[in-house]
Amino acid sequence: MRIAIIGASRGLGACLCKIIPENNTVLAVARKRELLEKLGSNTKAKVQPFVADLSRDIRLLLDELDAFSADVIFCLAGGGPFGAFESKAWKDHVWAWQVGFLSVAQIVHAALNQKVRPRQIVLCGSAVAEQAGDPNAASYASAKHALRGLYESLKLENPALDLRLFSPGYLDTELLPKNAEVRYKGVWDPQKVAEELWTWSLASDHGGHRLYTHHPK
Ligand SMILES: NC(=O)c1ccc[n+]([C@@H]2O[C@H](COP(=O)([O-])OP(=O)(O)OC[C@H]3O[C@@H](n4cnc5c(N)ncnc54)[C@H](OP(=O)(O)O)[C@@H]3O)[C@@H](O)[C@H]2O)c1
Repeated sequence: MRIAIIGASRGLGACLCKIIPENNTVLAVARKRELLEKLGSNTKAKVQPFVADLSRDIRLLLDELDAFSADVIFCLAGGGPFGAFESKAWKDHVWAWQVGFLSVAQIVHAALNQKVRPRQIVLCGSAVAEQAGDPNAASYASAKHALRGLYESLKLENPALDLRLFSPGYLDTELLPKNAEVRYKGVWDPQKVAEELWTWSLASDHGGHRLYTHHPK
């Protein structure tokens, strides 16, 4: 299979990249070239690194995705400023919306217009931020709400499309600051969650939504 992972250099995306079996080719997308190159020496699948910043290189990435012609696309990048909405610079909120929602919507739109569509697209929501407010993370949470709205609308519009929403709880990755209070209640192991993501992607849960609890039980 040909698999594109957007947000492959660290966190959940890097864990996923490492477990994909050898008979696959992965287009691994992120901003940091050195991390992508290091990742490539640590995977079973053949990795094609592609450096792109979703906040400004989306056209470049769409062209690359078109040429790569993925069977499956995992859109796993996301983030945003932490703190009171008004205290953060407007450009940082725009970044969160661009990276967490607009670029993902544009990737889906372009994929649906390809001659040969990917057979599956997986969006990454958040059990914490896609269905309720997340104080001090308003732009991140609003991007995740929008992503869920896009997923639910497209599912109704086009039931034949295998568009899935994967919504983890708190993960032990760099996205969650080391001193974040929520860590005391327990966080999910990104390696284990990536294994579940891969198994779920192969399973026949057409258009499904995998929703985690905030903390592991
Ligand atoms: N961590 C959590 O507690 C948690 C909870 C629920 C949902 N999620 C969701 O799970 C997904 C994965 O999160 P994670 O915790 O693995 O995050 P992470 O550790 O911060 O990794 C994010 C990945 O996205 C890439 N990325 C970030 N900004 C980018 C940009 N502008 N352009 C291209 N690539 C970019 C990063 O690589 P570079 O820095 O090299 O670009 C990295 O590979 C996200 O959608 C997140 O919202 C996370």
